[in-house]
Amino acid sequence: MAKLLLGTAVVLFACLELGSAFRLVCYFTSWAQYRPGAGKYKLDDLDPCLCTHLIYAFAGMKDNQITNLDANDLTLYHKFNSIKNKNENLKTLLSIGGWNFGTQKFSAMVSTSENRQIFINSVIKFLRGYGFDGLDIDWEYPGTQDKHLFTMLAQEMVAAFEAEAKGTGKSRMLLSAAVPAGMAIIEMGYEVPQLGQYLDFFNVMTYDYHGSGSIVTGENSPLFPLPNNNRYTNIHFNVNFTMNYWRIQGAPSEKLNIGFATYGHTFKLTSSDTGIGAPSGGPGPPGPYTRATGTLAYYEICTMLKTGTSEWDAPQMVPYGYKGDVWVGYDNERSFADKAEWLTKNNFGGAMVWTLAMDDFSGAFCKQGPYPLIGALHTKLGISTGCVPSKTTLPPAVPPTHASSGGGSSGGSGFCAGKANGIYADPKDKSKFYQCVDGVTYQKPCPAGLVFNSSCACCNWPH
Ligand SMILES: *[C@@H]1O[C@H](CO)[C@@H](O)[C@H](O)[C@H]1NC(C)=O
Repeated sequence: MAKLLLGTAVVLFACLELGSAFRLVCYFTSWAQYRPGAGKYKLDDLDPCLCTHLIYAFAGMKDNQITNLDANDLTLYHKFNSIKNKNENLKTLLSIGGWNFGTQKFSAMVSTSENRQIFINSVIKFLRGYGFDGLDIDWEYPGTQDKHLFTMLAQEMVAAFEAEAKGTGKSRMLLSAAVPAGMAIIEMGYEVPQLGQYLDFFNVMTYDYHGSGSIVTGENSPLFPLPNNNRYTNIHFNVNFTMNYWRIQGAPSEKLNIGFATYGHTFKLTSSDTGIGAPSGGPGPPGPYTRATGTLAYYEICTMLKTGTSEWDAPQMVPYGYKGDVWVGYDNERSFADKAEWLTKNNFGGAMVWTLAMDDFSGAFCKQGPYPLIGALHTKLGISTGCVPSKTTLPPAVPPTHASSGGGSSGGSGFCAGKANGIYADPKDKSKFYQCVDGVTYQKPCPAGLVFNSSCACCNWPH
C-alpha cells in the first residue's frame, strides 16, 4: 500500500483520466434536429470518441423541479446516454437554463432552503433515471440578490450528490456551470472562490465579445486584444483577459474550461472598408441552415468563403472573412489549434465547445473531414483516440475492424483471444496497453510521457 501511495496523485489521475489530462466538453443542442437538409443534426451524428464530456442542452424547470422542454427530449435523453456504451470514459451532463430561459425560475428556486431541496431531489431522480452523469447549470445570470444563494445551491447539491453516491455505490454525479465572460456580470453574480470549491468545472462562455448589435465589425472570440492604440479595442473583450480574470478571482485553473465557438457573428458592410472596425449597417442575413440573423455556423461560413475572402487577424489570433457586403468574425482550425495550445501552456482544465451541430460535423461542406474544428481541439489537447466500449453496459458496439467471436470471454482473436475481460500490459510497447472485452482486442495509448504499470493496471510516470 505504501508503495502505491508514493505516486497516489499521479496514479489516480492516470487511472481516472486514461487518455488526456484535459477536458473536451461539447454541447449537443436538441433543436439542431429541426434544421433542414445537410444542416440537420441527429444523434447518429454524435461521435462517441470526440469529446470527454457531452452536455445536452437544454432542460427546463417546473414547480422548482427539473423537467424536459420538448416531448421528444425523453426519447433523445435515452439515446444520447446510450452512446456511452461506445466509450466507457465518456461523461454526459444535462444543462438546465440557457439564454432564453430567463432568471425568474432560478431566482425563485434558490430563494428558500425548501425549494432548493425540492430541486436537488428532482435533479438526482431525473438524471439517474435517464442515465446522465451530472448537471450543468446555465443560469444567465444570477444577480446581486442571488449571488450567495447560488453558492448555497452548489454546496447543497454537491453534498446531496455525495450522499447519493455513498448510498448507491455509484460514482458521484458532476456539477458544472456555464458562466459569463463579462467582468461586471461575474462580479455581480458569482462568489468565485466558493463556487471553485463546489463545482467540478466552469464552462466559461468566452465568445460573443463582438456581436451584430455593434456599429462596427469585430471578432466573436479573439484570444488577445487589438494593439493598444486601436480605437476599436476593449482590453477586457478577449479570451486571455476573461480566463485570467476568473483565475485571479479564485477559480482553480484546472476547473476552468475555455469556451470555443463553432460559429461566427456577421455584419453588413456599408463602405469599401472590409477590415476590423469597418462601419456596419447591422447584422448579416440568416444562414440557409441555421436560419438566425447575424450568426452563421462554421459550415455555412466555409461555404460562403469558398468564393469570398478570408484574412488572418494576427494580433487577435482569429480569422475574419467577407463576401459582397457580408462580413464575418469567426474561428477556424488554425485559431482553435492556437487557442488550444495557449490553453495547455496556461494550465487551464480544458475546452468547452458551443456547439457540436455548428461545426462541419459531417465534413460535407468544408471538405476538411468531419468535425474539423472540434477535431483540432481533440488533437491539440491529446484526447485519446483509443476509445473503449463500456464494460458495464451490454452489448458493447464492436467496431467493424475487430472481428468478434460472439462467444463470450473465451473466444476472440489476437491478443485478447481466450483472455478474461480486463486491462493488460502490452508486452511489446510500454506506452500502450490492451483492453479485452469479450475476447475482442482494443489497444490504447497511455497519456504522453506515461507508461503502463501492471500493479495498478494504469498509466504512470516511468521510474
Ligand atoms: C493576458 O492577460 C494577462 C492578465 O490580464 C495580461 O497580463 C497579459 O498582458 C495579457 N496578454 C496579452 C498578450 O494581452
